[in-house]
Order: sequence, then structure tokens, then C-alpha cells
Amino acid sequence: MKDTIRFELNGKPAELQIDSNLTLLWVLRVHFGLTGTKYGCGIGYCGACMVHMDNVKVPSCQLRIGNVNGRNITTIEGLSRGGELHPVQKAFIKHDALQCGFCTPGMIMSTTGLLLKNPNPSREEINRELDHNLCRCGAHTRIIDAVLTASTEMKGGK
Ligand code: FES
Ligand code: FES
Repeated sequence: MKDTIRFELNGKPAELQIDSNLTLLWVLRVHFGLTGTKYGCGIGYCGACMVHMDNVKVPSCQLRIGNVNGRNITTIEGLSRGGELHPVQKAFIKHDALQCGFCTPGMIMSTTGLLLKNPNPSREEINRELDHNLCRCGAHTRIIDAVLTASTEMKGGK
């Protein structure tokens, strides 16, 4: 059976008739073509599928689309404004904070979520926050440097 689901996706209204048990991750990739959100483990462990729901990070592989009704979802594709990359995206480029790039969208969504609630995190706080975002390429040190740079450049997380 299909349900009507309405929500805001990257600042625009979205509506679809769909099985409400499907995951948000599946819907983003298959129905909206937003393939920046990655499928890693599928069990809420790796952070590759991280998006924001109402400005709070959430692993989209663990969220049923039925629970997204009426909510506000932001994916990596929705971070830039007016063609300009988000400061966190710029900082990742500046610090070369990636290798294969598979973990990067999830890392950036977790980072932007962290800076929204804590604009000036310490290295330890960043470490703790990104503990559930796995990077098989071992770019963690450069990633943490990028988060510190972004927090400084955003001057309070704006
Ligand atoms: Fe969702 Fe790994 S794919 S946490
Ligand atoms: Fe390859 Fe992180 S850059 S998994």
C-alpha cells in the first residue's frame, strides 16, 4: 500500500506516493536522484548516509520515509547557497580532507550538524561527534583540521 508523503527537501516542497516503510536513503537516491548521500553499512553504523532532519543529523538508512512526513530534510546537495559551497565544504577542500570521497558527504553533514549546535568545538568534541562517521582511507586527522578551520571561518557557526 502506498501513502502520500509531503516534506521539504533542500528548501523545496516534495511530495510522493510511496510505501512508507522504505528508508529515506532509498527514496533520496532512487526517487530524487540525490546520490550524494551514500549507502555504506545500512545498519546505522558508518555515517555515510547522514542527512539533516530539522537541522539535526540523522542516518537516513535508519529513517522510514513515513516518519519524514511534514519534516525538513537537507542533504549534501542542499548545503551550497547561490552556487557557492558551504564553508565546511570549502574547508574540506582546503585541507584535502578526503581520499576516495565516499565518506565525505556524511562527514560534512555531521560536521555542519555539530557546528549548528556547537559553533566552537574543541578537537576532542569533534573527535567524539565524528566517532560514528567511518573513513576507511584514514583521512580523520585532516578532517578534524578542516572542521576546526570551518568553525573559525564561520565565526560562530553561521
Ligand atoms: Fe547509514 Fe551506514 S549507511 S549509517
Ligand atoms: Fe575514503 Fe573517507 S575518504 S572513506
